[in-house]
Amino acid sequence: MVVPETIRAVVIKEVGVAPVTGIPTPKLENDEVLVQVKAVAQNPNDWKHRDGFANPSTILGCDFSGIVAAVGSSVMTSVKVGDQVAGFVQGRHFKDCGAFAEYFRTLADLVWVVPEGTLSDELAATLGCGFWTAVQPLLHPTKLGPTGPPAKVEGEKWVFVYGGPTSVGLFLVKPLGATFVFDYKPPDVLDQILTATTPSAVKAFSPEGKGKVVTILGPKDETAAYNPSVTIQPAFIYTYLGREFNFREVFPLSKEDRDHVVVFLMKVPELVKSGAIKLNCVKLWEGGLDGIEGWFSIYERRKTQYGETCL
Ligand SMILES: NC(=O)c1ccc[n+]([C@@H]2O[C@H](COP(=O)([O-])OP(=O)(O)OC[C@H]3O[C@@H](n4cnc5c(N)ncnc54)[C@H](OP(=O)(O)O)[C@@H]3O)[C@@H](O)[C@H]2O)c1
Repeated sequence: MVVPETIRAVVIKEVGVAPVTGIPTPKLENDEVLVQVKAVAQNPNDWKHRDGFANPSTILGCDFSGIVAAVGSSVMTSVKVGDQVAGFVQGRHFKDCGAFAEYFRTLADLVWVVPEGTLSDELAATLGCGFWTAVQPLLHPTKLGPTGPPAKVEGEKWVFVYGGPTSVGLFLVKPLGATFVFDYKPPDVLDQILTATTPSAVKAFSPEGKGKVVTILGPKDETAAYNPSVTIQPAFIYTYLGREFNFREVFPLSKEDRDHVVVFLMKVPELVKSGAIKLNCVKLWEGGLDGIEGWFSIYERRKTQYGETCL
């Protein structure tokens, strides 16, 4: 595949401004693949990163699917030029890596090959940030980690998902099902939950219970202080990506997290083929890179609440 010397990408210029800009094609490292982007999906963090945490000269965009255009010389996986792949990268953190671009580079073992005849580019792109974020709290051995698919959990173990209808939550609730569903808005929701799940919830959160809460927003100090017998553990999806990064503080490279997601990603093609992964609803947004600006404004007005959006 002939790769151009310059490409177009959505590059942050200043807070709130991220025009499509011409940049040199990223240079491939030995353990990376170069991806020609075919579709991207949007997450709230894309526009928040443009507006709230803008990092000038970095490329926006996290979730992608595309075609492998080049493979680094030391890549050990079976990925090859021409494969349809999908994944997730840390948009707006680096000048050389973001998915809202015609081409970008990423570590070869952080993409998964889309099995032929299964998902379109647009659908494959939606299995990125939200999907990976659902995996970490549930399956990582240091988080809840009951077991990894396709194995089933033995005995009776309960998991409470707060925020089931979010894009992240749906990746858990749709494939696994839910025994009870609660509307979070009524003032007596806590009583409803305790009544329905007693004695399991009471046991988990009693002084002897050693319950564990994995947060994807927080934790706030008062949450941790509320019940000292409960372990509060934050999960941050970027620690899966095999690079040190700065997000209000420096997060060192986590080999443990990267290894976990690499093993999980090897299972994803089979899980897609078997239908075990249930996709979120998708609203298709056309217009290529030039359509992203308009797409942000729609998202900010929260007209696409459920699931993600592709172009
Ligand atoms: N730690 C990480 O690495 C990481 C990664 C990705 C996302 N996140 C976080 O995970 C959260 C979900 O992200 P997402 O992209 O899945 O969001 P999303 O799809 O945009 O979530 C929208 C949904 O949230 C529900 N909601 C709003 N306020 C709520 C509340 N107080 N309690 C329960 N549900 C509420 C809304 O329900 P209604 O329409 O009924 O109001 C709506 O259906 C966000 O806070 C995001 O910042 C963390």
